[in-house]
Amino acid sequence: MSLKEKIDLSKLPKHIAIIMDGNGRWAKSKFLPRFIGHTNGVKTVKNIVELSRKLNIKVLTLYAFSTENWQRPQEEISGLISLLITYLKSEIESMIKNQISFRILGDISRFSKEVQDEIENVCNKTKDNSGLVLNIALNYGARQEIIKAFKSLYKNKIDNPTEEDISNCLYTKGLPDPDLLIRTSGEMRISNFLLWQIAYAEIYITNVLWPDFSEEEFYKAILEYQKRDRRFGSI
Ligand code: FPP
Repeated sequence: MSLKEKIDLSKLPKHIAIIMDGNGRWAKSKFLPRFIGHTNGVKTVKNIVELSRKLNIKVLTLYAFSTENWQRPQEEISGLISLLITYLKSEIESMIKNQISFRILGDISRFSKEVQDEIENVCNKTKDNSGLVLNIALNYGARQEIIKAFKSLYKNKIDNPTEEDISNCLYTKGLPDPDLLIRTSGEMRISNFLLWQIAYAEIYITNVLWPDFSEEEFYKAILEYQKRDRRFGSI
């Protein structure tokens, strides 16, 4: 029986969030520049989006650029942004055809007008699609997102907020919380990712580096999730 056949299609996570780590180490291990690691990381992105869509996963959230990533060399930052733009230009037709709804989690106002326009174009053209919601976290930080929520509650004079009020002020408004959080390349950290939303997520950490995160590795993560006993604090 293949790994794919072992998956229980009635118990799939609705929302999978991924910290895509290890592009740099992948490149280094092959004596290649870091940028080649990121280029190969994009190939994995395409593959995982396609597999998620075929499995009928409702939401896939990928951490592409954190608020802390501005500390990287300017050349690497521009390289990552240009990879994202190339990705959007090459994928927009297939997103439309495959009913993928593309969204951004994060504050994109710090990017150039050209980058913002391209992102908004893809968001607008895919916003009514009814299939997989693909969230890319870009200039995203969970603490910044929570501060933004506080400000919005204050502005709207909600002084006794419920969990729902807070969820409604986050970038993930209206979406189910992640059931499964995957981190590649072995680090045991959350790195300021979706702090509010992952309250009950199952965490899966693999030593595999993101460019090597294959179809089989994705199925392994889902199978491990399906083995877990999710009690949400109950017994
Ligand atoms: C982690 O590797 C990866 C990133 C910080 C960026 C992820 C971005 C992409 C895969 C490309 C652009 C995104 C899309 C959605 C097309 P690292 O550089 O932190 O690796 P290291 O820890 O081994 O140095």
